[in-house]
Amino acid sequence: MLDDIASLRGAILAAIAAAADADALEAARIRYLSRSGELPVLLEKMSAVPKEQRPAIGKAANEAKQAVAAAFDARKAELTAAGETEDFDPTLPGRYDPPGSLHPVLQVRDRAIEIFRRLGFALADGPDIENEVFNFDALNTLADHPARNEQDTFYLDEEGLEPSPGLDGKTGGGRRLLRTQTSTVQIRAMLAGQPPLRIIAPGRCYRRDEIDATHGASFFQMEGLVVGENVTLADLKGTLEYFFRELLGSDLKFRFRPHFFPFTEPSFEVDCAREGSTVKGREWLEICGCGMVDPEVFRHVGYDSEKYTGYAFGFGLERIAIMRHGVPDLRLFSENDVRFLRQFSTRLDA
Ligand code: DAH
Repeated sequence: MLDDIASLRGAILAAIAAAADADALEAARIRYLSRSGELPVLLEKMSAVPKEQRPAIGKAANEAKQAVAAAFDARKAELTAAGETEDFDPTLPGRYDPPGSLHPVLQVRDRAIEIFRRLGFALADGPDIENEVFNFDALNTLADHPARNEQDTFYLDEEGLEPSPGLDGKTGGGRRLLRTQTSTVQIRAMLAGQPPLRIIAPGRCYRRDEIDATHGASFFQMEGLVVGENVTLADLKGTLEYFFRELLGSDLKFRFRPHFFPFTEPSFEVDCAREGSTVKGREWLEICGCGMVDPEVFRHVGYDSEKYTGYAFGFGLERIAIMRHGVPDLRLFSENDVRFLRQFSTRLDA
């Protein structure tokens, strides 16, 4: 038994000395010193040895236990100290996690907000989950308008939900949906205050489009609405031309092309072009819808359409980012590949 203790003691001390890292030391502890490890198991056999041998064996056992415990603690302290000093070199520069930078579409949003701020516009917003009244009815969109189709709009499952609130804040909002346009915020802003009103509303919109290079199921728009006395089409034209020249360059030319939107009358699409520049063979690119607020919309929100006039506009932010940077495929904006995004970083070190 004395020999067994001596040889196990030697084996344990050798294993501790050979442990090259904390994991190896822990493995040695489990193998030899844990509750069912080799040393406790050996010492349990002490009870079977003849009485007269017990004092000598007990002494050897205690010495062995103390020796390996001391060796274990000492090796552990050594490994910890080595680990710390190996990793730490005070002469190296600190580690730096770059904080990232704004997505190119949000850079366009922020730049647009800045320009409209200078023109006295306030920021407004509304929820992404809307209903038929705010997204269609109050915007004078007829019941059979194709945009209402389930193939074009994401409707929500209403099961277990309270009926959605309409213009009076109570019931009658109709089916819930993901807003297809930020024009919903026109209605919310007019219900929340009285003229004069001068707001912009950037935000996400959703449509059930097939996803391809120029369509996504989710995209950003920016809406604008101005209501007051004697607001005219000349104000609309001047404001939009100023805005887009500030955003995209002073050499931009414009064309206001008659169009139809349910909530404006007359309505226009704004095309812009740059001398000597074409995109995919086209000189004129449509960038914005706009028009004079239809009196029917004022009626829905309780505004006096004899007293007030107004204009509204809406444009897609991805489209502008594409024009600004010549990005060929809309999907690049949502894939979040840092190799793509880094090109638009405003940080020099990112
Ligand atoms: N909401 C329209 C769309 O998504 C864009 C638009 C057109 C907004 C004309 C307006 C407007 O405010 O006056 O296609």
